[in-house]
Amino acid sequence: MSGSANIGVVGLAVMGSNLARNLASREGNKVAVYNRTYSRTEELVKEHPEAGFVASESIDDFVASLAKPRTAIIMVQAGKGTDAVIEQLLERFEPGDIIVDGGNANFQDTIAREARIAPTGIHFVGTGISGGEEGALNGPSIMPGGSAESYETLGPILASIAAVAEGEPCVTHVGTDGAGHFVKMIHNGIEYADMELIGEAYDLLRHVGRLEPAQIADVFTEWNAGPLNSYLIEITAEVLRHVDAKTGKPLVDVVVDEAGSKGTGVWTVQNSLDLGVPVGGVAEAVFARAVSSKRAQRDGVAGLRLARPAIPAAPDGFVDDVAKALYASKVVAYAQGFDAIIAGAEKYGWNVDKGAIAKIWRGGCIIRAQFLNVLADAYEQNPDMATLLEAPYFAQAIADGQDAWRRVVITATQAGVPIPGFSAALSYFDSLSVDRLPAALVQGQRDFFGAHTYRRVDGPGVFHTLWSGDRSEVQTS
Ligand code: 6PG
Repeated sequence: MSGSANIGVVGLAVMGSNLARNLASREGNKVAVYNRTYSRTEELVKEHPEAGFVASESIDDFVASLAKPRTAIIMVQAGKGTDAVIEQLLERFEPGDIIVDGGNANFQDTIAREARIAPTGIHFVGTGISGGEEGALNGPSIMPGGSAESYETLGPILASIAAVAEGEPCVTHVGTDGAGHFVKMIHNGIEYADMELIGEAYDLLRHVGRLEPAQIADVFTEWNAGPLNSYLIEITAEVLRHVDAKTGKPLVDVVVDEAGSKGTGVWTVQNSLDLGVPVGGVAEAVFARAVSSKRAQRDGVAGLRLARPAIPAAPDGFVDDVAKALYASKVVAYAQGFDAIIAGAEKYGWNVDKGAIAKIWRGGCIIRAQFLNVLADAYEQNPDMATLLEAPYFAQAIADGQDAWRRVVITATQAGVPIPGFSAALSYFDSLSVDRLPAALVQGQRDFFGAHTYRRVDGPGVFHTLWSGDRSEVQTS
């Protein structure tokens, strides 16, 4: 039996219900909804009669309400909740039907689920959806994986609800199986790095620039009108301007300074380590959140009452310098994120179009930024560049901002303001740009204690020095 809804949503918490409402608001969609607790479904249907939802109390009725090929988007808590719903749908779906996991699933789980489900003939599509509650309702950035065949049905439905940037819907078929969730994971990693860098910029303007939160909000608003234009800069200004009703103080001063996380940043770092890709910007952001939450250690060191450096007066042009340091560090974070995408695509056999990823991040998602237009152009002009930092526009931006970037790192270090993001980004840039790295010495040390061998700059071959013998050199291959 086949029903009338071309799409269904399972899981009607905020993200799921907003996505269902978004789907229902687009021409041509008839949306079936199901939630484990029926009262939530009833509530949603009552609150939004305009959506014309097809509501079901049982999973059987929900499946029956879907037109073939049946397509259902699961919007429940990642992990066990997702597996339970998948099982319920698998028992009822038929070959050709499509199960979409729209949660923040670990891409390795998505690969495993797809491999398990594929033999049934049912499509399993792990899909990254970014934009938070507001994005889900008005237009998120969508990163679907899964088979090309499933995308034929799913693509137009997702395009109907995605954000639109420069006239194009922010959705693309990222690659097969777990590619969508992998790219969403990297999106979140970049989100972490960007947020940390913005946090450091705020801290510098506050403590070295000696500006109050409301003044810093004005600075961010000004930055938002230039090359740094982005959603995260925009909301930072909003947060900084907000005054706590209870105390009359800036909200930022009454929030406990311990940052939480749900795991996608950690996954980005773990997977990048496995792929051998340095993503220092994300790693420092993850560590910075971890440090912030180590209250006992912070109290312990603060309790030592070591003399803190006197904070120097802000040098001339400090605010502009911080803007340039932020921009350059942000370019590094994106370069590292795209390196991880390239390495992941190679390892897992995905044909990922970097320019297309940059384009679907231009709207709807948390890291949406004007900057992504330039990034998309850079990958379109040269998809095979070794690093984004060599793209002419970004190379020029870094060349122009380099002195400011160094001044900011020096000033922050002298003032004792922690800038793990800015300094790691600068060191990464320096590591890529110097002629010789001390890695040569590390190779010498490795050869000394473990005969791990080295290569020479003046010709082919692999060598070992007889360190505990006469220190002559032997060629090992
Ligand atoms: C998005 C966000 C979203 C979520 C983050 C928050 O793209 O819409 O990234 O997925 O807000 O996962 O992550 P943390 O709680 O770990 O900061």
